[in-house]
Amino acid sequence: MVISRRTIKNFNKMEFTIRKPSDLHTHVRQGEMLPEIARITAFRFAYIEVMPNTTPSKQTGPEAIAYYNEIRPHTGDTEVIVSIKITPETTEEIVEEAVRLGVKVGKLYFGITTNEAEGARGIEPFYPGLRAMEKYGMILSVHGEAAYDPDGKKIINLRREAAFIPIAEQIIADFPHLKVIFEHITTGAMVNFIVNNSSNRSIAATITDHHLRDDIDSILGFVTASGEGINPHNYRKPIPKFPEDRDALVWAATNGLPCFFYGSDSAPHATETKECCCGKPGVFSAMTRIETLAEVFEKAGKLNKLEGFASIFGPLFYGVSPSRETITLVKEPWQVPVEFNNVTNYRQGEEISWRVKE
Ligand code: DOR
Ligand code: ZN
Repeated sequence: MVISRRTIKNFNKMEFTIRKPSDLHTHVRQGEMLPEIARITAFRFAYIEVMPNTTPSKQTGPEAIAYYNEIRPHTGDTEVIVSIKITPETTEEIVEEAVRLGVKVGKLYFGITTNEAEGARGIEPFYPGLRAMEKYGMILSVHGEAAYDPDGKKIINLRREAAFIPIAEQIIADFPHLKVIFEHITTGAMVNFIVNNSSNRSIAATITDHHLRDDIDSILGFVTASGEGINPHNYRKPIPKFPEDRDALVWAATNGLPCFFYGSDSAPHATETKECCCGKPGVFSAMTRIETLAEVFEKAGKLNKLEGFASIFGPLFYGVSPSRETITLVKEPWQVPVEFNNVTNYRQGEEISWRVKE
């Protein structure tokens, strides 16, 4: 498909129109939380791709399809892409059945995060699943952090993504036809890895709006009128890194490279489960996603590259058509509410300069 700039109508400093965006990495949870979270996550987006880390996780095609059937009634026109979790127990039969049922994606949690308390200690146990995914054309979506070094020693959070790069190299060398998305990348090193390996094969990365905006001090040195302190609502995995890493992500997202596309990793947790000792990782950004992206791209002087990143490159990687519908953003400040139901919003109480036109 030829990417045209024609859809960016009335492009000026006050208002512009892009195709409806897609969020190719998000969490809509389960139980009581699901209907409202699914609705707000789907609102104004063409596709959402939903992660399988529920309790218990979705590990087979029938489980993923049942999850789809739970979510879909709440998403209006928005199409939902579901995934299965790849484990050392994932067999060829599981992958073949999932693909036959229409599941496009297998998610591998290498790192430690919500509902993934352990973290993997080597990639080889996952090889039967990866081999089958390569054979049946299933996309591997990977949480690329290594929590342990080869001697089994724990690696500190700030170094976990960089420590995963040798494993990423091993995966792409051993499975030359596997399509791989490295999820929510956070380092300049990972940007380089993607750029260096995506020219002749299907390798891509998602980048969140919040990692394009924040560094580690969004958690540790959060500034308010009363000074600097910690902000548990900005805690997520992978944690945001240094300003130069964030700048590398902005470079990657705003330069029209199809190997980088949008996934919010919007990850709601009840406020009290974040404002406590051992608070959960996850930023709930569903209410502010495209508006935050508009601010980031505007600041980089690259608003004309937003449509590719947010609306076109992701669907193309997944083999689905970018939306023909559009949304219009206007320069009109609004204040982010503190909570959505009992979940604290990303950027709670802050003013955002762009608004989606009703
Ligand atoms: O911060 C995160 N929260 N990172 C993840 O990888 C998972 C997510 C969640 O499910 O809460
Ligand atoms: Zn996630």
